[in-house]
Amino acid sequence: MPTLRCVSTELRNRVIGSCTHYLWLAPALIRLSGPISHTSHTNTASIRLSQRSYRAAILIIHNLITIVELTNRVFVLTSFALKVKRFKMNYPANIRDKLVVALDVPNRAAALGIVEELSDLAGMFKIGSQLFTAEGPSLVRDIVTSGHRVFLDLKFHDIPNTVAAAARSAAGLGVSIFNVHGVGGVEMMRAAADAVSAFAPDRRPRVLAVTVLTSMNSASLSEVGITGGVSSQVIRLASLARAAGLDGAVASPQEISLIRERVAAENFIILTPGVRPAGSESGDQKRIATPGEAIRLGADLIVVGRPIIAAANRREAAQRVLAEMAGGM
Ligand code: C5P
Repeated sequence: MPTLRCVSTELRNRVIGSCTHYLWLAPALIRLSGPISHTSHTNTASIRLSQRSYRAAILIIHNLITIVELTNRVFVLTSFALKVKRFKMNYPANIRDKLVVALDVPNRAAALGIVEELSDLAGMFKIGSQLFTAEGPSLVRDIVTSGHRVFLDLKFHDIPNTVAAAARSAAGLGVSIFNVHGVGGVEMMRAAADAVSAFAPDRRPRVLAVTVLTSMNSASLSEVGITGGVSSQVIRLASLARAAGLDGAVASPQEISLIRERVAAENFIILTPGVRPAGSESGDQKRIATPGEAIRLGADLIVVGRPIIAAANRREAAQRVLAEMAGGM
């Protein structure tokens, strides 16, 4: 059997390099390369092999190393792609928690489908008059029981006694937030605040006052007899809400700075509908801003309905909103 000097330095380095990363391959490579002996006079590794098995072994080793290197590249690329995907999906909780998705759909099946589809992308789901009128409180309970936070957007506006009773019912459903109309007056808002104060602080829903609907502007306000303009009406109602002991206000992104300056710099929740991602339809909303602007201006919570709910790919639409929100942080 001819004694052959060690394979070329290049091949040896490749073997050593690969074996360092893929130690599990070492025994197989050694078996394939035949017995390795060390000659005492040169102290160099030599491989005793017949000419035929040497060539076959070299071919196999080359192929194995190529496969290992290719696998390594695929693995690196796949884990990079997974990391990017995971980063996209796992928006920081402080951004996700700020996104409230409006379940403006006609029935339970549609609503539960959206909750499941977006459960890792939204901090809260909003149930408004359309869905509540169709499906009632059992759907609210079911979504709450499944571990999701619910904003019950029924905008109570009635005599104080009735609103207090409705507030107790809403609190009993386990919702995280519900709202009342600020134009119902201080007494009505105080009745709502008092009604929920009987609940433990950590289980008590937050109560917000709707100031001026985001679908209204100064022209539509003056149609109903409010002539002082949108901003002054928003400030008036937000101030009354704070005086009545409510937790915050619903207002358009355009009034956030004013509320922060004139009503409460902090500890007063500002929830903003009328949010439209860059390039999307405004629909009936008139006082709008992008998710990034709303966050930059200081919104605590952002309500988004149609731009997500009516999108062909809701997850992608929600991710786009979250990305824009992250840009405003
Ligand atoms: O589809 P869009 O994003 O306009 O949905 C906004 C949601 O927020 C709707 O469900 C609407 O009823 C609600 N909302 C609002 N303006 C308020 C309070 C709630 O648009 N002032």
